[in-house]
Amino acid sequence: MKTTKSKRLFQKAVKLIPGGVNSPVRAFKQVGGTPIYFKSAGGSKFQDADGNTFVDFCMSWGPLILGHSRKEVVKAVQDAAAKGLSYGACHESELEFAELILSAFPGFERVRLVSSGTEAVMTALRIARGSTGRDLILKFEGGYHGHYDGMLVKAGSGLATQSIAESKGVPEAIASTTLLAPLDDAQAVSILFDEFRAKIAAVIIEPLPANNGLLVQHLQFLKLLRELTIKYGSLLIFDEVISGFRLKFGGYGQSLGITPDLITLGKIIGGGMPVGAIVGKAREMDLLAPAGSVYQAGTLSGNPVSVAAGIKTLKILKAESPYQKLDRMGKLFTDILARSGIHFARAVQAGSILWLYLDATEFPRRADRISLVAMERFKKIYWKLLEQGWYLPPSSYEVLFLSAAHQESEIERLAGAIIKELKKMKP
Ligand SMILES: Cc1ncc(COP(=O)(O)O)c(C=O)c1O
Repeated sequence: MKTTKSKRLFQKAVKLIPGGVNSPVRAFKQVGGTPIYFKSAGGSKFQDADGNTFVDFCMSWGPLILGHSRKEVVKAVQDAAAKGLSYGACHESELEFAELILSAFPGFERVRLVSSGTEAVMTALRIARGSTGRDLILKFEGGYHGHYDGMLVKAGSGLATQSIAESKGVPEAIASTTLLAPLDDAQAVSILFDEFRAKIAAVIIEPLPANNGLLVQHLQFLKLLRELTIKYGSLLIFDEVISGFRLKFGGYGQSLGITPDLITLGKIIGGGMPVGAIVGKAREMDLLAPAGSVYQAGTLSGNPVSVAAGIKTLKILKAESPYQKLDRMGKLFTDILARSGIHFARAVQAGSILWLYLDATEFPRRADRISLVAMERFKKIYWKLLEQGWYLPPSSYEVLFLSAAHQESEIERLAGAIIKELKKMKP
């Protein structure tokens, strides 16, 4: 595989853009080497600057459930762009989009559009604080909710109650308003609620944590969060930026039978364009300005081109419902690995989300139980797969996303390539 041009572009990029990238994980630091430069993409594949073709299993980190450049979505974007790139004012498509999103969340009454998942989370947290008059937010280790200050924290020792920031530039005063608990740890959460009770504004969780591996939670644990938040008058926020519309037309919370107070969305609802959203009941959502006194705004919120991509994507998902097919492809992948005879050839699967977990130990449900051996094995095969035309997310902690544009034959061939590489490895 030739990578001369990608390498040259990256050398130039580091002089122009911090670290050469506009979002850190794109830098390939975890798997070594330097980034592949995309040039064009369609369906399940993309071409890079050197003329190589790859099958993409990163899919822009989740938005592209229909694949790259689905023609109806591209057409909707082109049509909208021709009528105005931005109005900064009201337009009818916002209503169609709002109705479409709300149709997928029965019982919810309002949706506010923003331009990213980070913004959606930031706004949901502000609503929670505004509505409860409390400051503390409980989040979970390994849960990623965007780069809002208070969400960039990690635990201190043991059952941390005072959080310290994982990033410089986050004031201690803000980091200390975040409480942290391990995932899958009912006792830790109960202890925090016992201690902080009426000070907790909200609990925020990805109901299907997919940012630090795929840490599937027990239903009982998620139910406990609902029970405790009701008992103590805190809000429950399901961050469905990844899981929203990924496993069904709607939220993962619905599959669990758990109704949160607020839902944050992003990725798929923009169909590849920058869109985020907060969904909730009128009681909480009408606290947002100008209806209420919790401030939130955005020059490009409800941007007509992004909204057009979102509407078309959701309409296609509603009409075609690719979810069964996607789930079948995910199962096909894990089945092929399971039949390989290699005891550590494994993946955690939830619908079209796959996490390669190259270890024979039990699948983890919390961040501190992830096998480092599994992560090292992934790193060892990463470039070998890339050289054969398989583009996986460049980090062992990131999940693979399947799209409706992928073919079963691609899944079979990827699984075969992985098995071939693992066979060369010592157990
Ligand atoms: C669950 C979750 N929440 C929030 C975000 C932040 O979204 P964005 O990158 O659009 O700001 C992400 C991004 O990966 C995410 O996975």
